[in-house]
Amino acid sequence: MVRFYVWISLTIVFLFKAADSNLTPRVRLTEKEVNFRKWGLPGNTVRTELLQGPQGNSLYVGGHGKLLYIKLDTSILPEEVDFPKRGDKKSSVNPTASNNCDYDITTLHIANDSHLLVCGTNGYHPQCHFVNRKPFGSFGESIAAEGIAPFSVTERAPSVYVGNELYAAANSHANGNSLAIRRLGLRSIWPDTNKKEQRYVSMVLSGPREDPVQDRVYTFLVERNSDTRPEADIWTSWVTQVCAADVGGTKSILQKSWTSRLSARLSCGIPEKRMYFNRLVDVAVLKAERWNDSMVYALFNNSWGMSAVCVYTMGDIDRIFTTSKFRGYNDNLPSARPGVCVKESTKLPSEVLRLIKDHPEMESPVEPVRGGGPLMVSHRYYRHIRVDGVTGSDGRRHRVLFLSLESGGVHKVLDHDGEAFIIAELQPFPNKTRILNMLLQSSQRKLYVASSSEVVEVDLKSCQGYGDQCVACVQARDPYCSWDRTQCTSASRNGIQDVEQGNHAVCTNTDGVASPSRSKAQKIFRWSKHYLECPMFSSHAQYVWKHNGADKECVRTEGSCLLLIDSMTPEHDGSYECVSSEGGYSSTVVEYDLETESGAGGLVASPLASACLLLLLALLG
Ligand SMILES: *[C@@H]1O[C@H](CO)[C@@H](O)[C@H](O)[C@H]1NC(C)=O
Ligand SMILES: *[C@@H]1O[C@H](CO)[C@@H](O)[C@H](O)[C@H]1NC(C)=O
Ligand SMILES: *[C@@H]1O[C@H](CO)[C@@H](O)[C@H](O)[C@H]1NC(C)=O
Ligand SMILES: *[C@@H]1O[C@H](CO)[C@@H](O)[C@H](O)[C@H]1NC(C)=O
Repeated sequence: MVRFYVWISLTIVFLFKAADSNLTPRVRLTEKEVNFRKWGLPGNTVRTELLQGPQGNSLYVGGHGKLLYIKLDTSILPEEVDFPKRGDKKSSVNPTASNNCDYDITTLHIANDSHLLVCGTNGYHPQCHFVNRKPFGSFGESIAAEGIAPFSVTERAPSVYVGNELYAAANSHANGNSLAIRRLGLRSIWPDTNKKEQRYVSMVLSGPREDPVQDRVYTFLVERNSDTRPEADIWTSWVTQVCAADVGGTKSILQKSWTSRLSARLSCGIPEKRMYFNRLVDVAVLKAERWNDSMVYALFNNSWGMSAVCVYTMGDIDRIFTTSKFRGYNDNLPSARPGVCVKESTKLPSEVLRLIKDHPEMESPVEPVRGGGPLMVSHRYYRHIRVDGVTGSDGRRHRVLFLSLESGGVHKVLDHDGEAFIIAELQPFPNKTRILNMLLQSSQRKLYVASSSEVVEVDLKSCQGYGDQCVACVQARDPYCSWDRTQCTSASRNGIQDVEQGNHAVCTNTDGVASPSRSKAQKIFRWSKHYLECPMFSSHAQYVWKHNGADKECVRTEGSCLLLIDSMTPEHDGSYECVSSEGGYSSTVVEYDLETESGAGGLVASPLASACLLLLLALLG
C-alpha cells in the first residue's frame, strides 16, 4: 500500500515536471507592458454576460440588475438600463426586499436589427425581455422563461438565437432536475425532461452549411457517470446534436420532441499514462471556411487538480453521428439512418423515431485530432477557453488560445500544429481576482475580461511589452506581433517574425541593437554586503552573472536574478554583466561597475560585518 502511494506521488511529480517544462508562460505582461482599458461595473456582480455588438465596435455587458452598452470607439460613459427587481412597483419600492427578488442577467443575444433578447433570474421567475438597441434601452415584449433561462445565477444554461428562435438548455423547475434542449419560437420543441443528472456547458450552431437542411445545433455537457465503480470519474463529457430543420415527430411518437437528437462521448486523455479528463469545463469553436473543418477546443479538468485542452473537428463529430453503431442496438439499421437531418421530420418512419427514442447514444466516442492526445495538459485549473485565428506577418493563419486562471491571469497560448506554447501570462487585474467571463472580439483583435467589478479590454496587438529589439519580438512567437524595423508592433505583411520557431536568425544585426543600461562605477564600502539585480523577463532564458571572465551563481527571486556579495573586498572590484541566453542567442541585460571604498565608513554602514569584525578582534586579542 505504501509503495503504491509512493509510486503515485512520484508519477505525479514526474507528470508535473513533464508538463511544466514546456508549459510555463514565457513572459508575464501587466499594465506596465500592455494597453488595458477598464470600465467599472455597478454593484457586486456574481455573473457577467458579455455580447459583442454587430460591427465589433460596441459591447453589451449584463450583470446584477443592469445592462450596459459600451461604445468602444469613443470615451463617453456607457449607457445603462435597469431591470427592476421582481415585485418592484414604480410607486412603492420595497427597500427591504430580499435578494430573492433580484434580476441577474444570465442570457444575452442580438435578436434582430432592432432588438436584443435579455433574460434574467427575476427572483426565481426567469424572464426574458426584448430590449431596443437604437435608441438603447426601451423594453419591448417580455416572455416567461422557465426552461429557457436559469433560475439561479450559478446555473450555466447555454443558448443560441438564430432565425427568430431560441435554442436553450435550462432547468424548468427551480429545484428540480429537469433539463432538456428546448426551442422557443414558431416551431417550438419542448421534449420530456432528462432523468439523468447533467450540466450544460456550451451550445453552438454548426451552420449555415451549403445545404441549410443539414444545419445542426451542438450542445456540450457533462453527465453523471452511470459507471459507479470507485475508479471511474463521477462525470462524463458529451456532445449532443439536434437538426435545425427538425420540427418533431408524429402524433404517436416524439411529437414536439427532437427526432434527430444523438449523443456521443468526448474522449480526452493519455491512455498510456492512465490519465483521463472527463469533466468538460468550457468549449470554444474556431470557425473555418468549410463547416466540417471548424475546430472545437474543449477544456477539461480532472479530480487530480489538472486541466487539459483537447481539439476536435466538426467533421469528426458529424462522422461519429453518421457512422457509429447505436449503443445497445445490434439489428440492421433502417435505410434512412436515424439522426440524419431531413426536411420533414414529421414524415419519418416510426421505426426511425423509435430507434432515436430508445438508443440515442453512439457507441464510438469522438476522438481528438492528430493521434488523439490532448493539445496541452497543465497542473493548473483553467476556467474559460477562447480561440482566435490570426493571420501573422507570414500570411499564415495561426491559432491562439486564451485560458483564464483562477488568480485573474490569462494564458495566451499558441497552438502550433498541435504543439502548445504559452506566449504570455496576461495580468489585466492588479490584484488576485476571479474572472467571471471573457469575450474575444476577433476583428478588432481585442479580448474583454470581466471580474465582479470591472471589464478590462486587452489590446492583443499591443506588442511593445516584448522589448525594443528585433530578437525580443521574434522570440515572443506572438502571431499578433512583428518587428517593423524600428519597433515590435502589430503584425504586418512586411514585418519580421518567426511564429514557428522563434528563431533570432531572421533578424539582421541592424534590427535594433541591444543597449544594456550601464551605470557609472558604484562605490561600495569594504566588508559591507551588496547585491546586484538582473530582471528576468523570459522564463525560458538562462541568466548568468559574469565577473572577471568567471560565471557567478545567480539567486533567483520573483522575477529577478540576484548576485549576492557577502562582504565587499577589492577582489570584487570590476565590471559585472548579466547575460541572458535563449534559443542560442545571448545578450547582456544589465551591466554594473563596482569599486571597493576603504575606510571607517564600512564599519558604520554594515553593523553585522562590524560585529563580526569586533568578535574576531576580541578572539585574537
Ligand atoms: C425584432 O424583434 C422584436 C421582438 O420580436 C420585434 O418586435 C421587432 O419588430 C423586430 N424587428 C425587426 C427589425 O425585425
Ligand atoms: C472541474 O470541472 C467541473 C465541470 O465539469 C466544474 O464543475 C469544476 O468546478 C471544475 N473544477 C475546478 C476546480 O475548476
Ligand atoms: C470536410 O469536407 C471536405 C470535402 O467534403 C473533405 O475534403 C475534408 O476532409 C473534410 N474535413 C474534415 C475535418 O472532415
Ligand atoms: C489591490 O490591493 C491593494 C492592497 O491590498 C489595494 O490597496 C488596492 O486598492 C487593490 N486594488 C484594486 C484595484 O482592487
